[in-house]
Amino acid sequence: MRKPIIAGNWKMHKTVSESVGLCEALDRAVQDVDIEVVVCPPFTALSAVCALAMRKVKIGAQNVSIAESGAFTGEISPLMLVDVCCSYVIIGHSERRQHFGETDAMVNKKVHLALQHGLRPIVCVGESLMQRRAGETEAVVVSQTKAALAGIAQEQVPDIVIAYEPIWAIGTGETASADDANEVIGTIRKTIAEIYGQETAGRIRIQYGGSVKPDNIRELMAQPEIDGALVGGASLDLKGFTAIVRYHEQQQS
Ligand code: PGA
Repeated sequence: MRKPIIAGNWKMHKTVSESVGLCEALDRAVQDVDIEVVVCPPFTALSAVCALAMRKVKIGAQNVSIAESGAFTGEISPLMLVDVCCSYVIIGHSERRQHFGETDAMVNKKVHLALQHGLRPIVCVGESLMQRRAGETEAVVVSQTKAALAGIAQEQVPDIVIAYEPIWAIGTGETASADDANEVIGTIRKTIAEIYGQETAGRIRIQYGGSVKPDNIRELMAQPEIDGALVGGASLDLKGFTAIVRYHEQQQS
């Protein structure tokens, strides 16, 4: 059985004190839930939230450098993330690919480096609206998945989380239908099975991301291939994110 994992990507939001307040309250609100809960605050808040005595919520970063140290002005190395307490790191988010020129090769380098330092990557893959309309969704996610995992040893694969995030669904209020998301995630798992075998593919967790909200999480999580969610906007609010994490308590409609 794969343990569900719900992660909040705060993007470029929240001050240090806001981050501390939300982490403390969230940790209290989700303590008893049998789901892995991760939040990814901005870099500036990482050491403050890491200093909190949180019992449940784990901390991730939103990005990591392709290098361990050296003359890379403005970059944050995996060693620094481990040093503060991060256990996860988002790699290859579509906003980084789109706005900061992150390539498949860089994503792959980051995945290697993160794993080498004991950080669990949350690797984002997903197609644009144009690619979806052109019927290229499968080809895009298969090629991004293969590129991200190139050269990764089989025993490291279960430490990786993949987030399928269709770009057109991020921050737009549009969600892939649960069936659609399940199908694409099934394709990603099949791709992993072709490289590493069924057993390994059956262990890797694959999330859906893109306008996940309290009112669509239950249906998404009911899909057999979907192991969790990467949540942007709705993770900034205690009530909303708590309701997402506690989705199993929602009344069946
Ligand atoms: P959203 O963002 O939930 O605001 O659509 C998801 C993400 O970018 O990870």
